Amino acid sequence: MLLQLFIILSLPHFQNAQIVYFPAAKVPTSWTINPRTSAYDQIILSNGKTNANYGFACGFYSQNDKRSFYLAIGSAAASIDSSGNQVWTFTDNIAWVANRNRPVGEKAELQLLPDGNLVLKDTDGILVWSTDTNNKSVAGMKMMETGNLVLHDGFNNTVWQSFDHPTDKLLPGQKLLAGQKLVASISKTNVSEGDFYVSLTSKGLVAFYDEIMYFSLYFPDFFPEIQTVESIELTVNGTFGVYALTREGLKLLFPFPRFSNYTRMKYDSKGHLRLYDHNSKSADMLRDYVNECDYPTSCGNYGLCSNGRCSCPAGFAQDNVSKAQGYFTCKEINPTACGNPLSHSLLSYENVNYFNYSAGIVKVTDMASYRSQPEECMHLLPIFMQKAKQDQLIDMVDRSNEDMQLHKSEVVEMMKVAIWCLQSNYTRRPSMSKVVKVLEGNMDVKLI
Ligand SMILES: *[C@@H]1O[C@H](CO)[C@@H](O)[C@H](O)[C@H]1NC(C)=O
Ligand SMILES: *[C@@H]1O[C@H](CO)[C@@H](O)[C@H](O)[C@H]1NC(C)=O
Ligand SMILES: *[C@@H]1O[C@H](CO)[C@@H](O)[C@H](O)[C@H]1NC(C)=O
Ligand SMILES: *[C@@H]1O[C@H](CO)[C@@H](O)[C@H](O)[C@H]1NC(C)=O
Ligand SMILES: *[C@@H]1O[C@H](CO)[C@@H](O)[C@H](O)[C@H]1NC(C)=O
Ligand SMILES: *[C@@H]1O[C@H](CO)[C@@H](O)[C@H](O)[C@H]1NC(C)=O
Ligand SMILES: *[C@@H]1O[C@H](CO)[C@@H](O)[C@H](O)[C@H]1NC(C)=O
Ligand SMILES: *[C@@H]1O[C@H](CO)[C@@H](O)[C@H](O)[C@H]1NC(C)=O
Repeated sequence: MLLQLFIILSLPHFQNAQIVYFPAAKVPTSWTINPRTSAYDQIILSNGKTNANYGFACGFYSQNDKRSFYLAIGSAAASIDSSGNQVWTFTDNIAWVANRNRPVGEKAELQLLPDGNLVLKDTDGILVWSTDTNNKSVAGMKMMETGNLVLHDGFNNTVWQSFDHPTDKLLPGQKLLAGQKLVASISKTNVSEGDFYVSLTSKGLVAFYDEIMYFSLYFPDFFPEIQTVESIELTVNGTFGVYALTREGLKLLFPFPRFSNYTRMKYDSKGHLRLYDHNSKSADMLRDYVNECDYPTSCGNYGLCSNGRCSCPAGFAQDNVSKAQGYFTCKEINPTACGNPLSHSLLSYENVNYFNYSAGIVKVTDMASYRSQPEECMHLLPIFMQKAKQDQLIDMVDRSNEDMQLHKSEVVEMMKVAIWCLQSNYTRRPSMSKVVKVLEGNMDVKLI
């Protein structure tokens, strides 16, 4: 009753900005991103109680440019704008995003259709995302206090919920089931899916960077009774725990009491699993189990990591811009110029490892980082050779270099010539006349 009264009283204020805060909506309803109010995130459902100034909300979120938007769920806070109206905006704690790889523009529309499907259409009408809940008796949509967005039927049964579709975060009460994964965002300022993901298997967590495994956490190591992991969860009291079947077939929660009182779990863009408390203070969950040097991008581009410390190879120095921004990446001291062969030389590095070459799943796309591992010695050349063998030289071409990308086939052809000339068995190396023929296009490289 109070809630209704508040909404009615507040309507005149909100109409200016065309923002109305309800915790629920009925089929059919639609919302359009309004360019005039795009200075603010446009909250469409908020579970903030009448007098609360903080709560979970669902709406159109704009990360930085206020021109591209995501349908998102996150913590929102109320404030008063210059005209004295109360406006809700997302805080930086976005918990969930629909289709992270495809922001929409102004005038894009979210529709809860008569058939019960919730669809997001871009400005041009193109379907960007949907819940696929048509003909499933959806009667309405509600924003729960937990941060779960629920589509329910006429009997209040859940038909679809955002909690079943985790992105890179888990909220208290939200489960990550065995078989599901969290995919990290590209960066702090870009929610698009990046190259890191962590999967829950029936035994534990396994994390990958660009398909290369960089850590695994085997839960039976902590709780020997565990037979099959079913899910992990940050429980409602903030304790991280594992739901698993024991050998006796009992389903139990195995809590990690060390991780208590947290309000969200995030798989961050550097591949770390972090827990955040009420004050947004974070703790690295795996600090005691995973070495800093095991994180593939911990020393940035071309960086070397050893005992948790970063350094740069000869001819490279720490990039000053990154230094000022608090992260590490290396930059060439004198950028190589193609016209001057004297500026090129091949360096051989002993005891340097690019992830786990022996695992046979190497993908050196951008030389993101090296890992020091005394027992193994590895150079770039064997990777190059392996890629050639697998006919995947394209993996080694810089993805951010437009020129290279535009001339992929020529680049790969040149790489083949290089490999031909670099074979350790010199009797297999081509004569200069053959190389010339290949470059003229009159002969193909024949790699053995
Ligand atoms: C949904 O129901 C309508 C009417 O019964 C039917 O015409 C339509 O084909 C159904 N759609 C799907 C996807 O089942
Ligand atoms: C509907 O279900 C939710 C739990 O999903 C519950 O919190 C709520 O009270 C229910 N509402 C009604 C009207 O039964
Ligand atoms: C986020 O990254 C993707 C992929 O690199 C890029 O296409 C997109 O433009 C970026 N978005 C923003 C807002 O920077
Ligand atoms: C948190 O809840 C779990 C069950 O959900 C329980 O096992 C654990 O003891 C609780 N922890 C605290 C600190 O209350
Ligand atoms: C968690 O929070 C509760 C209530 O705020 C408090 O009593 C308890 O001591 C906290 N536990 C830890 C481990 O900080
Ligand atoms: C970084 O700045 C120092 C001086 O502050 C300079 O000597 C050095 O060359 C710079 N490094 C790079 C990579 O620009
Ligand atoms: C790396 O490879 C070694 C040897 O094959 C293996 O024992 C180790 O588990 C691998 N480590 C990872 C993180 O894949
Ligand atoms: C080098 O290649 C030649 C020709 O293919 C072959 O006959 C010879 O055995 C190879 N030598 C070694 C050491 O593999």
